[in-house]
Amino acid sequence: MAKDLQGIGFSDLKSPLFFAWHMTNKCNLNCIHCLWESGPQAAWPDELAEQEAMEVCRQVMELQIPYVALSGGEPLLYPAFWRVCESFSKNGVDIKIESNGHPIDGESARRLASLKLRSVQISVDGASQETYSMMRAGAKLEKALNAIKELVKHGVTTEIIYVPAKFNSHEAERLIDMAAELGVKAFYTGKTMYIGRAVRNWDTIGLSEEENEELSRRLERKAEEYRNRMAILFYPYSVVEELKYRLEYPAASLLLMANGKVKLIGSMPFVCGDVRRHSLAEIWQRYIKAWERPEVIKYVNSVTETPSLLARANDFVDLGF
Ligand SMILES: C[S@@+](CC[C@H](N)C(=O)[O-])C[C@H]1O[C@@H](n2cnc3c(N)ncnc32)[C@H](O)[C@@H]1O
Repeated sequence: MAKDLQGIGFSDLKSPLFFAWHMTNKCNLNCIHCLWESGPQAAWPDELAEQEAMEVCRQVMELQIPYVALSGGEPLLYPAFWRVCESFSKNGVDIKIESNGHPIDGESARRLASLKLRSVQISVDGASQETYSMMRAGAKLEKALNAIKELVKHGVTTEIIYVPAKFNSHEAERLIDMAAELGVKAFYTGKTMYIGRAVRNWDTIGLSEEENEELSRRLERKAEEYRNRMAILFYPYSVVEELKYRLEYPAASLLLMANGKVKLIGSMPFVCGDVRRHSLAEIWQRYIKAWERPEVIKYVNSVTETPSLLARANDFVDLGF
């Protein structure tokens, strides 16, 4: 595993720098690209109860992890969402929230604005109702845009995440112009991940390498146009490219799933701990060792050869140590 120029690697850290929390697998939407296969009926029966979630918060604070990202599913549907946010906020932990915006109205925007937020990221996959609802059946673009308006009105740093697909990529520039007008601070996109429901719908969604490159070049021009006003970023790595990189440079982060299991990364099935059985401090030490396990190295090599093996990503495979 690689170290940086000062000879410091992630394994020298006493605790992670970042904590990603998939709070619930339940979602009000049923997106065709969803990497987690979330949906209205997709909550897991063994999701963490409120008391367990509060214990996780206590340990995050004890380990002095400075930054958490709350996602799902739709994180605002998680019953303990507000208690978790308020607990982190009171104790100086920075929060990022990923939401489809549907549950955010004026009152919840006001409540969010009172938290210690780095940002709220609203997913908007299209500049027209037609394309947006091709990705997110039954969803209303107007609701996502209203959530953005309310958040901006209440002074929350608001960002857009846009997932490109064959049917919406022509609208990227229009959406960026709309975002700027709404007061959005950043527009993030990148290669759509070949995991979960996206695999089954790849013929409808998946852009070719050339199409991704073309979109990335168009967005560079947009980034130039909006320089100093709004950040516009295209993450250029596919799932497999990112996995190969992570094998050498694991992130200093943990990914807690709604059932208490902690995964190495969303695109692998491997579990290095369970908050119902291990402390976060123990899980961090297991995470460091896990990246050197032969199963993990073999998986990355196998998906490099055969990307369809990524279909296993949403399994839970305990590394059993
Ligand atoms: C899984 S969602 C959960 C939060 C919330 N329900 C939402 O829709 O934003 C978090 C982000 O992941 C993105 N996402 C889902 N599946 C993806 C995929 N296959 N590739 C890239 N991004 C994906 C969503 O569009 C969203 O921006």
